[in-house]
Amino acid sequence: MLRSHTCGELRLTDSGKTVTLCGWVQRRRDFGSMSFIDLRDRYGITQLSFNEDYKVELLESARSLAREFVIKIVGTVTERSNKNENLNTGDIEIVVDQLEILNASLTPPFTIEDDTDGGEEIRLKYRYLDIRRNPVKEKLTIRHAANKSIRHFLDGHDFIEVETPYLIKSTPEGARDFVVPSRLNENQFYALPQSPQTFKQLLMVSGLDRYYQVVKCFRDEDFRSDRQPEFTQIDCEMTFVERDDVLQIFENMIRGLFKESVNYDLGEIPVLTYAQALETYGSDKPDMRFGMTFNYLTQVAKGHDFGIFDNAECIIAINVTGGASMTRKEIDAITDYIKRPQIGAKGLIYCRVNEDGSYKSSVDKFFDQTALARWAEHCDSQPGDIMLVLSGDLQTTQKQLNELRLHVGDFMGLRDASQFKACWVVDFPLLEWDEETNRFHAMHHPFTSPIADDLSLIDIAPEKIRANAYDMAINGMEVGGGSIRIHDKKLQQRMFDLLGFTPEEAKSQFGFLMNAFEYGAPPHGGIAFGFDRLCAILTGTDSIRDVIAFPKNNMGRDVMIDAPSPISNDQRKELNL
Ligand code: AMO
Repeated sequence: MLRSHTCGELRLTDSGKTVTLCGWVQRRRDFGSMSFIDLRDRYGITQLSFNEDYKVELLESARSLAREFVIKIVGTVTERSNKNENLNTGDIEIVVDQLEILNASLTPPFTIEDDTDGGEEIRLKYRYLDIRRNPVKEKLTIRHAANKSIRHFLDGHDFIEVETPYLIKSTPEGARDFVVPSRLNENQFYALPQSPQTFKQLLMVSGLDRYYQVVKCFRDEDFRSDRQPEFTQIDCEMTFVERDDVLQIFENMIRGLFKESVNYDLGEIPVLTYAQALETYGSDKPDMRFGMTFNYLTQVAKGHDFGIFDNAECIIAINVTGGASMTRKEIDAITDYIKRPQIGAKGLIYCRVNEDGSYKSSVDKFFDQTALARWAEHCDSQPGDIMLVLSGDLQTTQKQLNELRLHVGDFMGLRDASQFKACWVVDFPLLEWDEETNRFHAMHHPFTSPIADDLSLIDIAPEKIRANAYDMAINGMEVGGGSIRIHDKKLQQRMFDLLGFTPEEAKSQFGFLMNAFEYGAPPHGGIAFGFDRLCAILTGTDSIRDVIAFPKNNMGRDVMIDAPSPISNDQRKELNL
């Protein structure tokens, strides 16, 4: 070892010891006959002290050091006269005896401190420098702890990790594939897996019983802060299980994860049906950290000659506790927010409940105090609250009110990143009608089993069939999803048929799976968690980029290595492109 200790471990009890430290110069401070250097490594910062009275040539060398130089020093641990309570090593400093420069550094393009002056693009270009900063380093450390906790749990429950291939076959379901040209098979392409779905099901046919994989998945999707073109799943599958078995095992895994990596007790995880989630929160991934649930005023608010309500399919309100103090300007800003084209609300109706119990609404012309009292009764509004109301067709209004609820939740400080609340959402519709292609799509994927009770609807009302599928959401983010699978060849064929595949298409794309179903395929089910999203939540960040060592930017580019990039003509020729 080049060093005897790290920069994070020396304490007052080490006083008098001769130590050797290595690290980066974080900062230098010069005073008359003395200089101090903060020496940094992964473990912390230790103050080095250079004194003219001690060794004058050492002081001169120290003053030639700039930020990010890599140095090695030998010195004596000494009690500090000016202690720094913010540092673990703040009681001591090293009086330096020998100094060696291991490597010089250019001036970094941004300051490598907790609060940096670097914008995201420059930090991604020099990501190796960004990772020297505590906030990034700590997130990667928590990611490692999370990975360890999950592997430990799964290992303890008889799951075995099996690697599945990255060069597979392109299929039309789901997102767009990334494709890889094959040199040996002219004009043919592999696809990178969007998930190892079919392989993990085949491993159940193989009798492996419990499989998991911490696995990279690839999806050519448009950018969002919770998406990356390559991301990591905790992918799991189990044999001879029903839905509640899967929910229970993975609820325990997630609870353990939060306890072990951030010492947070997630408590019981409630189960909502898809229908309940939409009715109560307008979302299939509700943020359960706060209330503000939906109140349907359709019955009580119609018939007051207010055209907008009278012509609406539904009228829904949320009650904001303590919201009566919102100013007109604040309400206008919230209204502008939901009127943006991405949300598309036409306007916002509100009603304050004054401290004296009277009401002041934006539609006083149509609703008297008695009418408004009925709203308040439905919303359980108390003096000091405000009701925010949207109306229109059911689906659109629920969606818009979900956005409003989240926005007001932010505004009222109710979405605290250090609080975590999870929920399961179950009983999703099996199929979604797609107007553009005029056919059904699988809401999860084509291998999801229908709920047995709904199978009789398959020929008469397929859109009403519920899937035996489940998602987990935490703090309003979908962190995982899975289902009990179809393991019967005939049902799988019928499913492909419903999804508009001809028998030939189904055979050419998924024949391998249906063949496997003819050799004793057991009942099975599973789930995959988005590991980057879990880590983003655990570390309280909005973007999954922050928890990925080398992420892509919002154009899908790696700006550090400059990829994607053109390839040479020779390469193209070889690949027949
Ligand atoms: P699904 O498509 O729901 O299911 O993916 C599982 C979880 O992966 C995460 N995720 C993503 N994370 C980052 N960037 C992306 N582009 C991205 N896309 C998805 C989400 C999601 O909940 N094979 C099925 C699972 C199964 O049925 O077992 C699947 O992939 O957190």
